[in-house]
Amino acid sequence: MDSIGSSGLRQGEEALSCSEEGLPGPSDSSELVQECLQQFKVTRAQLQQIQASLLGSMEQALRGQASPAPAVRMLPTYVGSTPHGTEQGDFVVLELGATGASLRVLWVTLTGIEGHRVEPRSQEFVIPQEVMLGAGQQLFDFAAHCLSEFLDAQPVNKQGLQLGFSFSFPCHQTGLDRSTLISWTKGFRCSGVEGQDVVQLLRDAIRRQGAYNIDVVAVVNDTVGTMMGCEPGVRPCEVGLVVDTGTNACYMEEARHVAVLDEDRGRVCVSVEWGSFSDDGALGPVLTTFDHTLDHESLNPGAQRFEKMIGGLYLGELVRLVLAHLARCGVLFGGCTSPALLSQGSILLEHVAEMEDPSTGAARVHAILQDLGLSPGASDVELVQHVCVAVCTRAAQLCAAALAAVLSCLQHSREQQTLQVAVATGGRVCERHPRFCSVLQGTVMLLAPECDVSFIPSVDGGGRGVAMVTAVAARLAAHRRLLEETLAPFRLNHDQLAAVQAQMRKAMAKGLRGEASSLRMLPTFVRATPDGSERGDFLALDLGGTNFRVLLVRVTTGVQITSEIYSIPETVAQGSGQQLFDHIVDCIVDFQQKQGLSGQSLPLGFTFSFPCRQLGLDQGILLNWTKGFKASDCEGQDVVSLLREAITRRQAVELNVVAIVNDTVGTMMSCGYEDPRCEIGLIVGTGTNACYMEELRNVAGVPGDSGRMCINMEWGAFGDDGSLAMLNTRFDASVDQASINPSKQRFEKMISGMYLGEIVRHILLHLTSLGVLFRGQQIQRLQTRDIFKTKFLSEIESDSLALRQVRAILEDLGLPLTSDDALMVLEVCQAVSQRAAQLCGAGVAAVVEKIRENRGLEELAVSVGVDGTLYKLHPHFSSLVAATVRELAPRCVVTFLQSEDGSGKGAALVTAVACRLAQLTRV
Ligand code: G6P
Ligand code: BGC
Ligand code: BGC
Repeated sequence: MDSIGSSGLRQGEEALSCSEEGLPGPSDSSELVQECLQQFKVTRAQLQQIQASLLGSMEQALRGQASPAPAVRMLPTYVGSTPHGTEQGDFVVLELGATGASLRVLWVTLTGIEGHRVEPRSQEFVIPQEVMLGAGQQLFDFAAHCLSEFLDAQPVNKQGLQLGFSFSFPCHQTGLDRSTLISWTKGFRCSGVEGQDVVQLLRDAIRRQGAYNIDVVAVVNDTVGTMMGCEPGVRPCEVGLVVDTGTNACYMEEARHVAVLDEDRGRVCVSVEWGSFSDDGALGPVLTTFDHTLDHESLNPGAQRFEKMIGGLYLGELVRLVLAHLARCGVLFGGCTSPALLSQGSILLEHVAEMEDPSTGAARVHAILQDLGLSPGASDVELVQHVCVAVCTRAAQLCAAALAAVLSCLQHSREQQTLQVAVATGGRVCERHPRFCSVLQGTVMLLAPECDVSFIPSVDGGGRGVAMVTAVAARLAAHRRLLEETLAPFRLNHDQLAAVQAQMRKAMAKGLRGEASSLRMLPTFVRATPDGSERGDFLALDLGGTNFRVLLVRVTTGVQITSEIYSIPETVAQGSGQQLFDHIVDCIVDFQQKQGLSGQSLPLGFTFSFPCRQLGLDQGILLNWTKGFKASDCEGQDVVSLLREAITRRQAVELNVVAIVNDTVGTMMSCGYEDPRCEIGLIVGTGTNACYMEELRNVAGVPGDSGRMCINMEWGAFGDDGSLAMLNTRFDASVDQASINPSKQRFEKMISGMYLGEIVRHILLHLTSLGVLFRGQQIQRLQTRDIFKTKFLSEIESDSLALRQVRAILEDLGLPLTSDDALMVLEVCQAVSQRAAQLCGAGVAAVVEKIRENRGLEELAVSVGVDGTLYKLHPHFSSLVAATVRELAPRCVVTFLQSEDGSGKGAALVTAVACRLAQLTRV
């Protein structure tokens, strides 16, 4: 039963003028009627073809392979779960675009109790035609006006109003409250709205209106509102179908199937936007001349071809075109038309529904036709009813084919043999047309026999569902506010950073003068960077970072390094001093044996990355341990002596300890070997610190006024006198309190690798206690100290990682999180590491400015040798440091050089310089 059209009818214009050729005879007329109605018949095979083609388009669009003008859009909506039924509160809902020219405002109360419903209050407003086709601002101003008019009349508390915006047009959503209109559909064509965020437009209009303070929390397609408003029943309601002025459906898709989303878990509601489906192969055979005429005369010719066969805006118009045609052919109304019959939009969906309704009776059909200025006879009434039935049956069948495609898609993605699902239906065509739903349901059963579908009519036009989404969005927005409040103290502005720089300058000056200061500014007795003439083989030790190393450094025309890493167990680092130094000597002996160096007494340089007061190059009194070290009986002792004593205890080893060097100094020397402008050493690793070349005349306590000396700032302790109190957050306090050196190294504890993970962990604990993260469930793992390593920050913040990988990293830690959680954890990491890098930058800015001023230069070009795992591994740390320095020290051109060989090499170079100088004095 193919639909046939006479050759004449394929040409719309010709067909409409045939009455001029005289009235047809009775048999001609019944043939004409048959031909005409036959065009609206769609075979089962055609429906199946449409179903298959639509399914193909849907799957293609999901995979992100859609052509530039996609047949269906498959737009993710940011609604991730169907309602729990626990949502509660009062919400204002504004509906625009679902039902013709009307705009609806609702006051919805969600009780949070299943089965306990409060009837929403609502008011409908008619949007004037000139507003629907006018400037966008006018439309949104009209909406804002309707809102306040509605609210004025409500006897309710109007404080803190939260609004859900049901906007039923194809939109690209980028969040629950961000949605860009792709194109108008149906009867709307307001200028300046396509490509704009409609939430922002509404917010602006509400602000302009000025009557109420309303927060637009969520924007929702009508299909989504319909689905979400469905009472939780036996089976999940995972499809929303709307046949109103236009038509569309949404359904819950597996997030991993939606290519545009960076998500592999959970589900997301996808708005199909099937109205734009227009596959020529599948739709072409069912398009009638009337469809072409209708499209041609519509506001958006060529677009929404599928919708134009189904949506309520078009059904009356199709009927009108057929009736006008039949009248012109002389088959109806004695060959007479009327001005109304010939004007677009004179037959509405309501008329069609009524005329088709068997309970209405012929008298009503008669009356409707008379209102159109026609004089129908008895046979006309019957024929008009047939036309209505043909047009609407086709609409319901086509809609069923589309719904069957959605169900097949759902079934494929769920990998289920038989799909049990509830479809929430809404829209005036579904609600008011006497047969639409039954034809739809019957056809769906035929086309998707493997799906067991129940249809649930929406109760209040989706308003409740919009309120549900708004409730969820409001909760998320509240969480975001809490997150922002929590992170606000980590976000430092220019003035705060400039204040840190200034404080640092003050503390440096005091420290150099030997006055009380949290910066010790320790002289290192290193007076020059290497000049390249150093030669020889040296041993080096490197203690205090992530790894303990023993190295053999051969300095010829270049530097060759052989090294071994040894572990220092925590029991040793925090045991007795003797144990620690015996262990170090054991490692040296092992190294010497491995390298065939036993019995040789090579000069040794010792990188010892802790604060030491040096009295010479080979004498360093440990002031206090930092980082994870706490070996007893070392503080206040000369570290070189402790090492020599251990060597003596071990007998049979001879070592010649020449120099003790801080890692910052080692790094500066090591980079200085390559670049003579390197006069600063910076470490951002387990701990943090800097050294730089200071004018000797500024250094109290070291004789001599000319030349320079490298000063170990020990900036990790900056602020230990309380001068950074204004920057300290409660999380810094918690980390400090739980550390092995409370109230010490306050600057270091805001910057370095040993602490950043802990700061993040404390913030996560706090956010969990506020219910913002992990659904408020306390997670045992998160209580464990140091569970959140700083290297996770580097991994999580890596740009190349998708959010799903962030989640995988955190799940490996035993943190079961949602994608919202993952995003928040990422933001926490960013805030913490950004503050660290900026504080570090403020420190470097203080140092370079000091050097510039020392030398009385307008501009300074200087290099900084840098080392440390955080600086090297974190994806953004180094660039943030550099940016901060540029901002705070604009007159300095600072180059950062990453040290490749560690500070052991630098220690060997210091030793080499010392040996060279010693030889010179001997000579
Ligand atoms: C250098 C050194 C270490 C130093 C470290 C800082 O290159 O060789 O002794 O302490 O870098 O980095 P880390 O991240 O290991 O603390
Ligand atoms: C719109 C859809 C909407 C449907 C039903 C269509 O014209 O593009 O977003 O869901 O009408 O209102
Ligand atoms: C130490 C410094 C060292 C820095 C980097 C700090 O804890 O006090 O001496 O340079 O860590 O390793």
